[in-house]
Amino acid sequence: MSSTLSPIDKAKFLAAKQAASYVETGMKVGLGTGSTAAWLVRCLGERVRDQGLQIKGVPTSHRTADLAREVGIEVITLDEAKWLDLTIDGADEYDGQLNLIKGGGGALLQEKIVATASDQMIVIADISKQVESLGAFPLPVEVIPFGWQTTKALIEEALIGMDVLGRATSLRMNGDSPYVTDEGNRILDLHLNRIGNARQLSLVLNQIPGIVENGLFIDVCDKVVVGFGDGKVEVRDINDGTVVPAFFDLHEDENLFADLGD
Ligand code: 5RP
Repeated sequence: MSSTLSPIDKAKFLAAKQAASYVETGMKVGLGTGSTAAWLVRCLGERVRDQGLQIKGVPTSHRTADLAREVGIEVITLDEAKWLDLTIDGADEYDGQLNLIKGGGGALLQEKIVATASDQMIVIADISKQVESLGAFPLPVEVIPFGWQTTKALIEEALIGMDVLGRATSLRMNGDSPYVTDEGNRILDLHLNRIGNARQLSLVLNQIPGIVENGLFIDVCDKVVVGFGDGKVEVRDINDGTVVPAFFDLHEDENLFADLGD
């Protein structure tokens, strides 16, 4: 089964497996959202089942909560947890300072709240998520439904004064209807192409009435675990400035792959 994984899925899985090895019994862990985070949840579920790992997970979306319960992870709310030891999540882009764009999966609000309430945030990603500067991936911004078109116009006006290469904005759709977040909000995607000053942009955006949160994660992430399609994994730590390699034997994971079915 593992041999049928595409190189990109293999890279995501390997990053998730490495990050899952950092989780210890007794920890309260923030569980991210997206395809890479789903691998993480499965890897943790396997450790719960096979190694007796005892953790409490705080999911960042209904999707992740459902998967976590399915694989045997105890799920609690952030208010029950109050503070977390570690959050592990995917990202749409990360740069050399480990600043991120997140929200491609529409869960940026809970993801940012949960990551910020953690001693440590680890991002798991395949190497395609690494960028010189943020912004090629459209920046998701969560806005409340009331007056969203006015909020969109205010964002477009604010972008005129920003160091960005593009200024188009679009309402995220789900088929013929607007995409609705777990909080009942909408997502505007900002097509900026390149963001010159992500910190400033994040501050400016969050001052616009109607914006709940934006997908820039500045100084939140501590480590990125990067998976490569050839089986290589690297761990980049922004605090130590280190890049440490790791290797896996995918054959050890036949059980995990078998759980997925065909
Ligand atoms: C969801 C996210 C995801 O972490 C991000 O979109 C990456 O997803 P994937 O692991 O599927 O590439 O921010 O809101």
